[in-house]
Amino acid sequence: MKNIVILISGRGSNMEAVVRAAQAEQWPARVAAVISNKADAKGLVFAAEHGIPTAVVSNKDYPDRASFDAALAEVIDQFAPDLVVLAGFMRILTPAFTERYAGRMLNIHPSLLPLFPGLHTHEQALAAGVAEHGATVHFVTAELDHGPIVGQARIPVLPGDDADQLAARLLVEEHKLYPRCIRLFVEDKLVIDNGAVRILN
Ligand code: GAR
Repeated sequence: MKNIVILISGRGSNMEAVVRAAQAEQWPARVAAVISNKADAKGLVFAAEHGIPTAVVSNKDYPDRASFDAALAEVIDQFAPDLVVLAGFMRILTPAFTERYAGRMLNIHPSLLPLFPGLHTHEQALAAGVAEHGATVHFVTAELDHGPIVGQARIPVLPGDDADQLAARLLVEEHKLYPRCIRLFVEDKLVIDNGAVRILN
């Protein structure tokens, strides 16, 4: 049984989708903990209601990124993670942190990477006038919103779309994409080969 530790900063709807899929599809893995950098993250309530251990490591309690990341890693490691899942975890991570979990940390980003890294991805997509938008699941490396891509989901940009409409339509797809990618990881089907992901049958 693999241990998944999920990091959130807010709503946690992707975390919820992963918890539900792991149970419904009987993955050889369990969500061992949900950890937030914000005490009022809504997702913590869902996790607690589902009997999942929760923890808060507030970045406000630490003077710099390095000390916060070190404290966070200490809490994460108490749950012996095989995989760390960033699910709306809105922090820039230090190289020491990304190195510690290299090859075993995934992120979901709401754009078709390498397009639109960073914040406000739906606004960026609308401003660029793209016909398609999407979400990307990737292994986390030191460079923000880069790293070997595991999977992507696409949606059309429709006439009249605003950022909220795009975000809402994309979220539905994120909730399918992220569990699908994480399941591949826990079933040992992902290999990183020369900086690219190969999916085994
Ligand atoms: C999701 O749309 C996720 O892709 C995005 O934040 C949202 C979190 O929603 N992540 C990022 O922007 C990371 N850079 P959730 O808390 O309901 O899962």
